[in-house]
Amino acid sequence: MSIRTSRTSGNAAVLIDHSRCSRCLLCVRVCKGMPLYFENGKIEVDQSRLFGCIACGQCVAICPLDAIKVEGRLLKPSDVVPIPLKENRAKFDEVFNLMFARRSIRDFREREVEQEVIDKILKAASCAPMGIPPSDVRVLVLNGKEKVNEFSKDFIDQMAKIRWMFSKFALWLMRPFLSKTDYELFKTFLTPVIDFLIEKKKQEEDWLLYGAPLAIGFFGGQASDPLDADIAATYASIAAESLGLGSCFIGTVPVFLKYGARKMKNKYKISPFKYGAWIIFGYSKYSYHQSIHRTFADVSYYQKS
Ligand SMILES: Cc1cc2nc3c(=O)[nH]c(=O)nc-3n(C[C@H](O)[C@H](O)[C@H](O)COP(=O)(O)O)c2cc1C
Repeated sequence: MSIRTSRTSGNAAVLIDHSRCSRCLLCVRVCKGMPLYFENGKIEVDQSRLFGCIACGQCVAICPLDAIKVEGRLLKPSDVVPIPLKENRAKFDEVFNLMFARRSIRDFREREVEQEVIDKILKAASCAPMGIPPSDVRVLVLNGKEKVNEFSKDFIDQMAKIRWMFSKFALWLMRPFLSKTDYELFKTFLTPVIDFLIEKKKQEEDWLLYGAPLAIGFFGGQASDPLDADIAATYASIAAESLGLGSCFIGTVPVFLKYGARKMKNKYKISPFKYGAWIIFGYSKYSYHQSIHRTFADVSYYQKS
């Protein structure tokens, strides 16, 4: 049974060059969609086993003899390239230092982000794991301070239109349908934030996207896993950090865009989405001198009794 997504249906074709195959069976072991199996001394393909080939590419990537090609579900043989050498990959300390030095950046230099830098961020983000290939995450790039500012103004205008929904009276009406935590979140966070952003916009100040020179939205479509957009966005923020840029997630944008703002979605060509993440990027105006250790709410190890 093949898995349908918004971009594909059906299975990808698995082509095995039996003259190259050494029958090491690595491809069969890593194939979890189940189409590959070993019988009568040969690797066989049966697309009716479990999901058939979903084009995850595991078999192609593990084969030491380049004996397998997968074609379909938007994967092409030309997408498969030699893996980066181990000595060229970042080690833990480098990755950790990059992550530990990161801060959310909300003050930017008057410098646009170059197209080749944007391309690199997107290239890195597209490597993120996705629930079911091919990725159902769509990306909107607002390149340039002017476009980011236009979006921010449109967004705050949109918020102003639905401000009544967050009035004391509306919240009182909604109270029985909201959990205590959501009610508190609306009352103590969302409502004051909306009022603050509207007020600041009147003073020509952008406290939503902070005058950033680049904003990127990641939107997971109907076939995406709830986490796909967030994971791609996280990859993008780490890539940006490695390129000398700062970034900041802006949670308000996807929340509001998801539930309304039809006109805005039309203007910016944002298709309906289930889950989204929004990040601003730019060169930081300030340098930071300290890092901050943070903690999880809890880390527990299951103890077998
Ligand atoms: C999902 C998410 C949404 C966020 N939304 C906003 C936002 O709307 N505005 C903002 O200024 N910062 C936002 N942030 C940034 C957080 O405020 C920031 O990560 C937190 O204060 C910790 O600071 P640090 O990232 O410098 O460690 C968001 C972060 C996350 C992960």
